[in-house]
Amino acid sequence: MIVIGSDHGGLALKEAIEAALVARGMDVKDFGTDNGDSVDYPDFAEKVAGAVSRGEADLGILACGTGIGMSIVANKFPGVRAALAADEFMARMAKEHNNANILVLGGRVLTAEQAVKMVSVWLDAHYEGGRHQRRLDKITRLEAAARAGKL
Ligand code: RB5
Repeated sequence: MIVIGSDHGGLALKEAIEAALVARGMDVKDFGTDNGDSVDYPDFAEKVAGAVSRGEADLGILACGTGIGMSIVANKFPGVRAALAADEFMARMAKEHNNANILVLGGRVLTAEQAVKMVSVWLDAHYEGGRHQRRLDKITRLEAAARAGKL
């Protein structure tokens, strides 16, 4: 399952992305927001990143105005590797090198068409492992140290 969420700044991207994911035949859960009223991005990042962190979802997508706030919140969750991407190259690298399990996009940075293409590139890319796994293992060790109060 893939979980998605946005604030008002990312709503248009989320709606376009959701339609594209459904068209791909994916099982999508939408945590909102559902209208253009001003809301707080941490509330939606918490739902999406929490579901990925707990293993209730395989992947997530978040969008706010810039993608910055969503990234900051999502990366607080253990096991979450949320990647803020600004173009197709970054979206591909987010999977190939970082094995990002959440893609973060900016609704005031990208058009819906660009965002949908980037999501498709990220989903179709493959994690390369190898030297990149050593680096991801170091992130996991840092998370454990943070939990133990040893950072
Ligand atoms: C909301 O105005 C805006 O701050 C939010 O969408 C996001 O860009 C935060 O990083």
